[in-house]
Amino acid sequence: MAAPVVDAEYLKEIEKARRDLRALIASKNCAPIMLRLAWHDAGTFDVNTKTGGPNGSIRHEEEYTHGSNAGLKIAIDLCEPVKRKHPMITYADLYQLAGVVAVEVTGGPTIDFVPGRRDSSVCPREGRLPDAKQGAPHLRDIFYRMGLSDKDIRALSGGHTLGRAHPERSGFEGAWTVEPLKFDNSYFIELLKGETEGLLKLPTDNALLHDPEFRRYVELYAKDEELFFKDYAESHKKLSELGFTSR
Ligand code: HEM
Repeated sequence: MAAPVVDAEYLKEIEKARRDLRALIASKNCAPIMLRLAWHDAGTFDVNTKTGGPNGSIRHEEEYTHGSNAGLKIAIDLCEPVKRKHPMITYADLYQLAGVVAVEVTGGPTIDFVPGRRDSSVCPREGRLPDAKQGAPHLRDIFYRMGLSDKDIRALSGGHTLGRAHPERSGFEGAWTVEPLKFDNSYFIELLKGETEGLLKLPTDNALLHDPEFRRYVELYAKDEELFFKDYAESHKKLSELGFTSR
């Protein structure tokens, strides 16, 4: 599909949609699933074939029914009234804007948002997103395929400061932190504490402790929230712009 024309009118609609998303996320307490929607739309990117990525394709049944996307239809449906109010905004932009707003309204860093993503109806094959049961080599395989780096892996993993796992969606259960609606560096603090009654650690979360390079930063981020916020904001912007060049 053609790229949207990002003129003054489009930018005005983006600002209006941003306000609508703030209100929606506040009233439904749905920041975590909005962030997961943005990440799962973007995280299918393949840097070699330039396929997948933040292109709104996750709105199609073929893609949201992938096992790793279980539950995300809820977030897609929540975005629909915002799309109807601002039809000129692409789904690709809307989902990434929702991710950025989700981080901001829960206390996280401001993430620079550049609009202009085109929508695609071509869905990637299942299996491009990470498998929570694996370790650091798998994380590197998947994130390098997206064109992302070790810094992006460790910073973006902190996204699990928000939300929880649901047994009926992923088979895992529980939140990573005591306040799953607050975006802070507590994911790293809890990770270093080890198993805590009632809190979740996926094998991929623990993998960050076992790899020395990742562990160094888990320790740094646990001590220095500002550093985490700075790195997170840079990596989130990169994730939200995979395969996208603004014109
Ligand atoms: C939830 C895996 C990276 C944001 C989950 C869930 C799993 C998972 C299994 C539980 C889903 C459910 O049962 O509802 C992984 C793996 C990753 C990864 C293996 C590899 C590093 C990320 C990244 C972000 C993110 C990069 C964002 C920057 C979230 C959020 C939730 C979540 C916000 C909570 C959703 C909710 O509360 O409904 N993730 N994730 N994850 N993930 Fe990840």
